[in-house]
Amino acid sequence: MDITKTQLEQIDQQICDFLREDRQFILEQMQKHYAVGQKTGRRDLVTSLDKENQQRIIAYLEPLLQPAKILAEETEHQITDSTGLVWVIDPIDGTMNFVKQGEDFAVMVALYEDGHPILGYIYDVMRDRLLHGGPGLGVAYCNEMKLTSPENLPLAEGLVGLSGPMLIANKFNFQTIESQSLGSRVLGSAGIEFSRVILGKQVGYVSTLKPWDFAAGNALATVLGLMVDRVDGSPLNMLKSGVVLVATKKAFATIMNIVK
Ligand code: IPD
Ligand code: CA
Ligand code: CA
Repeated sequence: MDITKTQLEQIDQQICDFLREDRQFILEQMQKHYAVGQKTGRRDLVTSLDKENQQRIIAYLEPLLQPAKILAEETEHQITDSTGLVWVIDPIDGTMNFVKQGEDFAVMVALYEDGHPILGYIYDVMRDRLLHGGPGLGVAYCNEMKLTSPENLPLAEGLVGLSGPMLIANKFNFQTIESQSLGSRVLGSAGIEFSRVILGKQVGYVSTLKPWDFAAGNALATVLGLMVDRVDGSPLNMLKSGVVLVATKKAFATIMNIVK
């Protein structure tokens, strides 16, 4: 399907409007009772709001582009191949933060075509910061502000986001990454971590991620000249989890050498 840039600009505006309205919905629902359950264990939560928000997002996106598949975290919406247009949805990224802290969580949406990123959205709900754009538009914005590429700082001159459990276990030499940086941060939301790298507040972020954790961040990061790949050197795959690195070009090269 050939979508023109003008069509994508219209779609981008529509999705931004929808996500701003969706933010109000989340802020209201946060004040009310919502159910909290476990998925794989006590450190992996899902709430009734994750599920409800996913339904709302799917109901909005489904009619926007036809035909498009849907890959979404909380329901049976899965895909067996990534050909054609695919919407990728993480209705609340950082559910533990959402439940325990009421901040540092994000709503994430992305549009891919044949496995390639077209558009990405990371909405930091409590900061009211909506990152949007991607290769389909050739630009990325933070709310209405056009973003420029973050400075290409080396690992030695920046903070780095790392998965806490992987740092403790020294998986992939994570402790060397941490000691060669100015310090590590563990934020508990892949979306917020990607945002920090995109906004130049961190030189990188590495964690084991599922496609809905990295889809939006990948679209936004690549259009700004950041590097995103799996640390095993294989390209990102919308059908598979993996250890994913997003970083400035300089930090990317250093971290890839360390994790080998
Ligand atoms: C999780 C967060 C967390 C990351 C996990 C994700 P969820 O997403 O992004 O930072 O370390 O791998 O599953 O489950 O809260 O949407
Ligand atoms: Ca997530
Ligand atoms: Ca989620």
